[in-house]
Amino acid sequence: MGLGTFWGISAGAGDPEWLTLKAARILGAVRWVACPQNAIGQPGLAYQIVRPWLRPEQTLLPLHLPFVTQVELLQAAWQAAAEQLAPLLERGEDVAFVCEGDVGLYSTFAYLAQALQQRIPDLPIQAIPGVCSPLAAAAALGSPLALGSEKLAILPALFALAELEAACAWADVVVLMKVAPVYPQVWQWLAARGWLQQASLVVWAGWPQQVLFPTLEGLADYRPPYFSLLILRCEPRN
Ligand SMILES: C[S@@+](CC[C@H](N)C(=O)[O-])C[C@H]1O[C@@H](n2cnc3c(N)ncnc32)[C@H](O)[C@@H]1O
Repeated sequence: MGLGTFWGISAGAGDPEWLTLKAARILGAVRWVACPQNAIGQPGLAYQIVRPWLRPEQTLLPLHLPFVTQVELLQAAWQAAAEQLAPLLERGEDVAFVCEGDVGLYSTFAYLAQALQQRIPDLPIQAIPGVCSPLAAAAALGSPLALGSEKLAILPALFALAELEAACAWADVVVLMKVAPVYPQVWQWLAARGWLQQASLVVWAGWPQQVLFPTLEGLADYRPPYFSLLILRCEPRN
């Protein structure tokens, strides 16, 4: 018997209708649907997004993939998840792993796929692209993310303001993901440059609780949640 396929399903950033036709087709065809668990051990956000497209007879496999930075803990979690999925794939069953946003942008999918490939070198692995949060946020704001010759930089997280400085020296548009922990410092940095009008914050793009801040004027004391991103135009657009 041949091997099953490990599918990486991009659930999109929030709105279930952002799921692509291909992702919906594969989700509808597989029996096993894996997804990251949330902090309390229940199926997480990716599952919530694709839930309208699932059927009761499908089996959900919530995986423990903790939100931590310690490499040893992460590697142990990827290996444990791979151990859980490998027997299914080895007996020819397809498994769809759903991730929030796009599976190719700062997503767990690549790590899990790598852990599986170490166990099953010939495993067929296919990623289905989808709507990532920077594009979802730009659409929500009603403004293109980049135009013409504008250069775009996406920072996965900010550890030092010098990185933002460097990004702005090169790019026309900078997207700051995982901005929540550094928001107060970033706000002060923008205020000092007179750039609050050029920065937008999008919270929960595509979700019913979405909030848009087209500028950051007056938002020094705001504390954004984890699902927030900031789009900065380093030069105002004409
Ligand atoms: C680990 S990354 C996942 C990115 C995801 N794979 C994607 O394609 O957008 C998590 C960060 O993405 C951003 N993010 C993801 N979904 C979002 C949403 N719906 N609204 C705002 N920001 C979002 C936030 O900055 C969050 O801290």
